[in-house]
Amino acid sequence: MRKPIVAGNWKMNGNRSLVSEFSSLMHGVDADAVDVIICPPACFLGSFVAPDFALGGQTLSELDNGAHTGDISAEMLKEFGCRYVIVGHSERREDHCESNALVAAKALKAIESGLVPIICVGESLATREAGELEGFLAAQLDALTVSLTAEQLSKTVIAYEPIWAIGTGVTASPEQAQDAHAFIRGHLAKFDANVAANIQILYGGSVKADNAEELFAQADIDGGLIGGASLKVDDFRKICQAAG
Ligand code: PGA
Repeated sequence: MRKPIVAGNWKMNGNRSLVSEFSSLMHGVDADAVDVIICPPACFLGSFVAPDFALGGQTLSELDNGAHTGDISAEMLKEFGCRYVIVGHSERREDHCESNALVAAKALKAIESGLVPIICVGESLATREAGELEGFLAAQLDALTVSLTAEQLSKTVIAYEPIWAIGTGVTASPEQAQDAHAFIRGHLAKFDANVAANIQILYGGSVKADNAEELFAQADIDGGLIGGASLKVDDFRKICQAAG
């Protein structure tokens, strides 16, 4: 039985007052039924006072420490209470030229440090329209399975985020999302069937309070990675409730 996860990715948004609003996030959310995570900008991690949800980073360095201006390490995230970290978000892949190999190295560093990486994969519209969706996803996943053991992979969460659905208001239909999730699970099953059966695969891309339930009802969708709608506590709470 895969427990649903709803993770909010604030991206480069928010401030201390938004942090305060989220102190009531879990009112009406069944924490036994859904794991809730907030991934704020790193500078706000320390502003959450005893949250009753989990915290996550938005990225981490694949290195331990040293002269790497602007980067943040796994140990730093842990010191500020993080249990999760997003890895390989398409915005990081694009804005910071993160390759599949680098994403795998970051995922490995997270696992070795005791953080759960939420590893993002997903195609552009051009890739989908060219009929290359499965090959593209396979390449992103294969970069993980060459670097991680099955046991390490079992300590990760995958997020399927079609780039054309991120921040656009265009959500993948439940069928499109389910098909991609089933492909991802099937592809990982070639590496390890047991890990594939148990790994949580989240959908991300314009999930809102009014479409979450239908998406989360799909057989291979185990929750969501939420951008824009995670900045409004009432909307985000509804999404958490839809998963639980
Ligand atoms: P969105 O972002 O919900 O605003 O589309 C999702 C994400 O990028 O994680």
